[in-house]
Amino acid sequence: MSRLDPTAVPPHPLGTGPAHPTIQDTQRLAALALRLGGLHIDPGKLDFFRQRLGKRLAQNGKTSFRAYADLLESGAGTAERKIFIEALTTHTTSFFREQKHFDWLEATGWSELTAEGAGLAWPLRIWSAACSNGSELYSTLISLKEHDARATRHLRVEGIGTDLSQAILRAARQGVYTANEIKGLSEARRKQFVLRAKDGSDRYRIVPELRNLCRFDPINLTEMGNDGPSLADLILLRNVLIYFDPPTQKRVVAALCARLRPHGVLMTGHTETVSQLPTGMVQVASSIYRKES
Ligand SMILES: C[S@@+](CC[C@H](N)C(=O)[O-])C[C@H]1O[C@@H](n2cnc3c(N)ncnc32)[C@H](O)[C@@H]1O
Repeated sequence: MSRLDPTAVPPHPLGTGPAHPTIQDTQRLAALALRLGGLHIDPGKLDFFRQRLGKRLAQNGKTSFRAYADLLESGAGTAERKIFIEALTTHTTSFFREQKHFDWLEATGWSELTAEGAGLAWPLRIWSAACSNGSELYSTLISLKEHDARATRHLRVEGIGTDLSQAILRAARQGVYTANEIKGLSEARRKQFVLRAKDGSDRYRIVPELRNLCRFDPINLTEMGNDGPSLADLILLRNVLIYFDPPTQKRVVAALCARLRPHGVLMTGHTETVSQLPTGMVQVASSIYRKES
């Protein structure tokens, strides 16, 4: 899938509104989404724009999508431009999503990374580069902790989650989930890594032992500059490339591979293809790449 498929997208928390965009409006909005966030959205999907942005019109006192696009293009639209990009993104994620990546880490990845010195000579740094609500980063830390316990070592670990959405980063920092959201965690993992809310409500929090290893920062991958970790051992870039057009995908992959330590590993989503790997990167398994030089 190289474009957003609005039929696969659940209703967005920012809600819907009464105005309807014209194709000219959505062409302008799609061009802005591409320019501001590298997002590749088919302008023909009028309903998608209406669902995602309808409420933004109301909140800005605009009665048409044309007036909203005018605002985005104006000097007064600086703050709204960020919200606009955020409203067009999707945060779908889950614990232990794409299990094959975790199987590979358990069978191969953790041993190889630690053999290089990660976690021992220096803190093993894991960067979840489009982290959504943190499930991905916490799952990876759980997998590493389990490996660590089996190997009876005490690895030093740093988890860094970044995303362009401030709202979703707040959720990641809190690390609080519903029973439905943690259904990817086995009973044994829940016992060890999750605390149930004391009020008996349907809420579960990641244990401080894991939360304290993590920090969550805002980073837009399409305009990263020098932001973000300088060197990481494992970078998760999963299920975000699908939102970008091919030149942006190539630029983002190159920028992240440049932040990998030698022999560091990059993972992308299983449905995402990296058409041009940067020099020195080799594929070691499905959607898993290692920096060889
Ligand atoms: C579908 S979720 C994937 C979450 C997680 N990586 C996973 O695979 O479960 C995509 C995430 O990418 C974020 N995102 C979209 N465009 C981004 C960008 N330009 N920079 C950083 N994050 C972005 C969204 O806010 C969203 O949280």
